[in-house]
Amino acid sequence: MQTLVIDHPLVAHKLTALRDTRTESPAFRLLCDELVTLLAYEATRDIRVEPVSVTTPVGPASGMRMAGPQPMVVPVLRAGIGMLDGMIRLLPTADVGFVGLARDEESLVAATYANRLPANLAGREVFVLDPMLATGGTLETVIGMLAEREAASVTAVCLLAAPEGVDRVAAAFPTDDPLPVRVVTAAMDERLNERGYIVPGLGDAGDRLFGEV
Ligand code: URA
Repeated sequence: MQTLVIDHPLVAHKLTALRDTRTESPAFRLLCDELVTLLAYEATRDIRVEPVSVTTPVGPASGMRMAGPQPMVVPVLRAGIGMLDGMIRLLPTADVGFVGLARDEESLVAATYANRLPANLAGREVFVLDPMLATGGTLETVIGMLAEREAASVTAVCLLAAPEGVDRVAAAFPTDDPLPVRVVTAAMDERLNERGYIVPGLGDAGDRLFGEV
């Protein structure tokens, strides 16, 4: 697995505002949306393209267009929904699948409660949206579901990551795994606390996006 921590002043600026407890849901959603678009720019750096010729008003030009099959974007419910618009802004023709996982706050083990994925993802590049790569349990499960469906590659876009989570996913999908896996994140934080929250993190991403329900 490859991990890419995006070093960009705008990413740092928006992430700092997201972390701030004074940032309330409306501003948090907007910042999250903008930050994801910045991360999406890097996350799609290796997306498959093919050469194409077009005619400009002045003459012929060679260029590139995205090659099929269409990529798939998979937000992990609930908090990943807050990242969807920011991602498909750059990939408007992507299909969108959904996976719902909830973690038990005692055991920290994530259980799947929703799955709307195609049975076959052969040849398709998949972008998983999950704001917090904390223990890595959720991401490991979701990538496993995508591997079973024969995805060509998986890129996880995360606002924040903890070393524990990155290590777990890297152990499950080492660099020589047939499925290439990448994590793109705005920052690698210090650690997890005893409740599995990222420190310093930004708290519960779902609650901050959508309120405590
Ligand atoms: N999920 C969150 O929303 N926040 C964390 O810090 C860890 C998991």
